[in-house]
Amino acid sequence: MRKDLVGYLQRLEKMHGPVWRTPMGPGAIITMLGPDAVEFVLKNRDGAFSSNRGWVPFIGRVFPGAIMAMDGDEHRYQRRIMQVAFRKSALRTYLEQMGPAIDLGINAWLKPDEPSAARQMYPLLKQLTLDLAASVFMGVELRESAKELNRAFVATVAASISIIRVAIPGLTLWRGIRGREVLVKRFRALLPGKRATHTADFFSEFCHAQSEQGERFTDQEIIDHMIFLMMAAHDTTSSTLTTMIYLLARHPEWQERLRVKAVSMGKAQLEHDDLEQLEELSWSMREALRLTPPLTSMPRMCISDTVYQGYRIKAGQMVGVYPMHVHYMPSLWTNPQSFDPERFSPARQEDKRHAFAWVPFGGGAHVCIGQHFATLQVKAIMHQLLLRYRWSIAPGYAMPYQLVPIAKPRDGLPVTLQRIA
Ligand code: HEM
Repeated sequence: MRKDLVGYLQRLEKMHGPVWRTPMGPGAIITMLGPDAVEFVLKNRDGAFSSNRGWVPFIGRVFPGAIMAMDGDEHRYQRRIMQVAFRKSALRTYLEQMGPAIDLGINAWLKPDEPSAARQMYPLLKQLTLDLAASVFMGVELRESAKELNRAFVATVAASISIIRVAIPGLTLWRGIRGREVLVKRFRALLPGKRATHTADFFSEFCHAQSEQGERFTDQEIIDHMIFLMMAAHDTTSSTLTTMIYLLARHPEWQERLRVKAVSMGKAQLEHDDLEQLEELSWSMREALRLTPPLTSMPRMCISDTVYQGYRIKAGQMVGVYPMHVHYMPSLWTNPQSFDPERFSPARQEDKRHAFAWVPFGGGAHVCIGQHFATLQVKAIMHQLLLRYRWSIAPGYAMPYQLVPIAKPRDGLPVTLQRIA
């Protein structure tokens, strides 16, 4: 399962069909495959599936108060306020702020006198997205405290998959809880300043956001949302960028095609209205998210008995749905293993074969609130990268993935970067 998630699920599907039960301690995990199952669970029409009970065992200790682990009215209430920070005018401003920061960040990847050099892409991308998160999310420059903050984030995310669920000093969960303390302290210290002024960053937006019903966040809610948001944004975006860079190195003809388009835009930094014109870049991003969705599976717990296509699911059973498996179904995708961005073109629209055929951002009430922000950020970074560098991988190289909790390369993705501007 850890080596080849899709192959494993497909093998079991052949033996047991699309739904099966794995006994686990006193309970069981129900695996539900296919776009109908993903739709059934994520839309959750009869309220049988709890995100809270699904996610809390993984993230509860390190991300308490995370919106992803809320249900029903509480979730709707928090999401109404949070939505304000993702309105179009705010996204436009975030993009304007990111342009120069991306330029500064990627320019430093090679020294001025280095025409080309070997680099590990994943750490560079993580650093870049963390720096952007600091400016666009927190409205601060991290500089000397960046390492401490990055370490704290890495520890909190790693704790989500810690097998030992007891906080033993030195072990993963303990480090995650310590990491969270660093983050809470940092956000709490900045909060009064953020409340006092209104600046163009998520932190300030959360401090001032008010839903149409007049609802507002408390201080603790702001801290919890900021910590979760920064993790949700920075790890998923660096995962997506890493996969794109890898795939475009494997398919240099696509890298060149995107570069030609980027050059034709005639500008170093994108503005919001440019985004829609970069069609091929959109297809490539969607294809990368199809082949390796950063979140390969999503947990829920069944809290009231329900029936799906004749299968009885009982309260107390954990349920797992797998976007990645859907993304490789031959009934939905032509040659699903192959990198073929044009499958998303208006002429082919393979993603429209089922409303839940392409689900890297989930669906239903918990559908990713940052989807548009992520698209905008990935496109802005890729545009500048294409203009500045050409990159390649060693012949025959295949990137080894670690898929859980968020997909990333095991080896950092070694590439050769060549400066072109
Ligand atoms: C390519 C990048 C991203 C991917 C693939 C992704 C994926 C997802 C998925 C699958 C979920 C649903 C989880 C579930 O239903 O259990 C989700 C939720 C969420 N994402 Fe993203 N995400 C990305 C980027 C972002 C960014 C950039 C932000 C913030 C700026 C963000 C913030 C959130 C939040 C707050 C939730 C919880 C929403 C809720 O529960 O109502 N994500 N994301």
